[in-house]
Parts: sequence; C-alpha cells; structure tokens
Amino acid sequence: MRTSPPASGGTGSTTPAGAAPIPVSAIPAVNVASVPQRSPLRYPGGKTWLIPHIRHWLKAIEPRPKLLVEPFAGGGIVSLTAVMEGLVDRCLMVELDRDVAAFWHAALRHGPELCEMVQGFRPTREAVDALSRQAPANVLEHGFRTLVLNRTRRGGILAPGASLIRSGECGMGLASRWYPGTLADRLSAIIDNAHLIEFSEGDGMALPKDMPAGAVLFVDPPYSAGGKRAGQRLYAHHEIDHARLFALLADADTDFLLTYDNTDEIRALVRKSGFKAVQVEMKTTHHARISELVISRRPVFVD
Ligand SMILES: C[S@@+](CC[C@H](N)C(=O)[O-])C[C@H]1O[C@@H](n2cnc3c(N)ncnc32)[C@H](O)[C@@H]1O
Repeated sequence: MRTSPPASGGTGSTTPAGAAPIPVSAIPAVNVASVPQRSPLRYPGGKTWLIPHIRHWLKAIEPRPKLLVEPFAGGGIVSLTAVMEGLVDRCLMVELDRDVAAFWHAALRHGPELCEMVQGFRPTREAVDALSRQAPANVLEHGFRTLVLNRTRRGGILAPGASLIRSGECGMGLASRWYPGTLADRLSAIIDNAHLIEFSEGDGMALPKDMPAGAVLFVDPPYSAGGKRAGQRLYAHHEIDHARLFALLADADTDFLLTYDNTDEIRALVRKSGFKAVQVEMKTTHHARISELVISRRPVFVD
C-alpha cells in the first residue's frame, strides 16, 4: 500500500500525531481525454477524471447494483457513465440548482426538441446576451438556456457573477466550446437511455434513511471551505453541513463513494466516522496536480 502526503492544492495538510497516513489509490491517474465525455454540460468540479475509479468500484459490487443515487448530480457524468456502460440497472440524479435541474428535465423529457435547438443555434454575443436576459417560457427553453450559458461562460460556471468566455480556443470566442454535432450526439445517447435515468430537483441532503435494496450512492457535494477551489465561486448552492452529511452516510445502510477536497476538516470527519479514505491524484485544467479524497465505508482502491 502506497502512502504519501497530500499533493499541493488541498487547503490543509497536517495529520495529527498517531493518525494513520491516508493511502494513495492503486488505480493510476488517467488522461481525461481517454474517458468518454457523456455529459452535455461542462461542469466545474466535474468527475470525469474519477471514472476509472467509478468503474472499478461498481464492477466489484455483486450482484450488480440496481440503482445508483447521485444526490449532488451537477453534470451527471457518473450517473450517465454507470447507466450507459451497464454498470448499474438505473440511476437517480438529484440536484438543487433550478437552472441545472431545468437542463436535465429538458434533456430527459424533451430530448429531440432540445437537440434541434442545439443544432440551430449560433452562439454570437448578441444571441447569448438575448438568451440570458429573456425569461424562459417553459422547461425546454429553460434547459436550453442553461446549456448555452454553461458552454459559453468561463469554466462552465453558472453561479452569479460568472463571465463569458473571451478569446476561447483558437480565438473562437464564445463558439469555442459550442460543438452542436457533439452535443447532439451526447443528447441522443441520453434520449436512448432516458428510461433508465430518473431526475429529481431537490435537496440531496434529504435522502431517505432507508434506501431501496441494491442501491448505492455516489456523493460529490460542493465544498466551500477556504481556498482557491471554493465551491462558493462555482455553484449557486454551496452551503452544506459537512458533518451532517457524514452522519447521514454513517446511518445509512448503503454502500457509497464520497468525494471531497483533501483538507484537515474532512480528514478529521473521516477519522471520526470510522470511514476509509484514499487519495486520488488529478490534474486541474491548469495542469497542477492536486489530491482529492475518495471516502467509503470499506477500504477501496488499495492493494
Ligand atoms: C461538485 S458539484 C457535482 C459535480 C458532479 N459530480 C459532476 O461530475 O458534474 C456539486 C453540485 O451539488 C449541487 N448542490 C449544492 N447543494 C445541493 C443540495 N443541497 N442538494 C442537491 N444538490 C446540491 C450544486 O449545484 C452542484 O451542482
């Protein structure tokens, strides 16, 4: 078992005397370009880089999980991958942000119309400005607006105060992340699997204590402790009682993976709840290496 101090980027790195060091995952870090990107949203804090770990975790569960519940769904890459790769029977995504929720409702209930809107849209500054000022008339328009704003704002950030992409890739400006054909393909795959994907707009902290038999949880809450990657800047909803979330998971009789920043606060909660944690290294968009914690009830990803 390898152990190492946390890589740079965490907001704290002190291990109290006597506390066991946190092992490093035995699964190699991947280049995210090698992971199929299935979500139409560019999600800040998205977990594409964790997909090899998710596959490993779900494949090891016997029998195959009937339901994957993702209470902080965001761009939903984990749920989409799990369903589309046949790693679970079906999934339930929960998200509190009403703009993000409108996107998922539109994709799952009005997918073909949303595809058409995507293919007919040219993301000029005027068109994007007009869309952001106009109140959507229905969930389809609302979901479309979310997708356009998500793909034309810097870092995909939808939280208040986010600015538009300026020069973008190859000086393409607002259009640099607007790929109508690719987005339509991802939406088509979601349409094909919509019967296996349930979405609920609501509070991920309000999950029932008794989950259905065969359910597992993937939990990726916003993290808003101090530091550069504060969830506050990234999400409209970022206030989470982290200690309460740990207590809810400790009480639930369900297998779970929980991801967090590698900080003193979170390591203390891991120790207090008796959970296991591993460090998984990932590269940020600026190529800095940081380590995140993947927390579970039983040891995972260690030899
Ligand atoms: C770290 S992001 C999830 C990213 C996601 N795993 C992905 O790969 O795209 C956390 C998400 O939780 C949402 N959120 C914040 N508070 C919530 C709550 N109480 N219930 C449900 N969702 C919440 C935020 O809007 C944000 O989309």
